[in-house]
Amino acid sequence: MKEKTEVLFDDKYPHAERDALIPILQDIQEEFGYLPRESIEVVSRKMGIAASKIFGVASFYNQFRFQPIGKYHILVCRGTACHVKGSEKVLRALEKELKITSGQTTRDNLFTLDVVACIGACGLAPVISINGEFYAAMTPEKALDLIAEIRNNHDDK
Ligand code: FES
Repeated sequence: MKEKTEVLFDDKYPHAERDALIPILQDIQEEFGYLPRESIEVVSRKMGIAASKIFGVASFYNQFRFQPIGKYHILVCRGTACHVKGSEKVLRALEKELKITSGQTTRDNLFTLDVVACIGACGLAPVISINGEFYAAMTPEKALDLIAEIRNNHDDK
């Protein structure tokens, strides 16, 4: 991870100024799916910016994540149609069950939970997607059943 970040940095940003920080972080996230601590340390050393400062800047932007994405990436739609039909309850049920809030990944790296604006399937509201597959007319109960099913399948492997 460290070496890969070094190469990425040297190839694309050999003379990086501070205003290149966000594009650099975006590239790192594209490469690893999140911003690994080691990568932030490389950027810190190369740009002469304290790692804590880089974390501070990155935290300001919703697009950055600091943990890898779990095996199952759950998106809860919070668009208007889904909201009106109860997506909030679905989200709360998932957060409670997985013991994380949106934007986080479970400790076992199995689930990542995110909220998104309309995902273009309003006719299915409220809808969630798991690894790109849509699940329609969600209720808290149905969402928890899906989690249980995934966990069961995972345990069987
Ligand atoms: S509002 Fe949820 S899919 Fe459009």
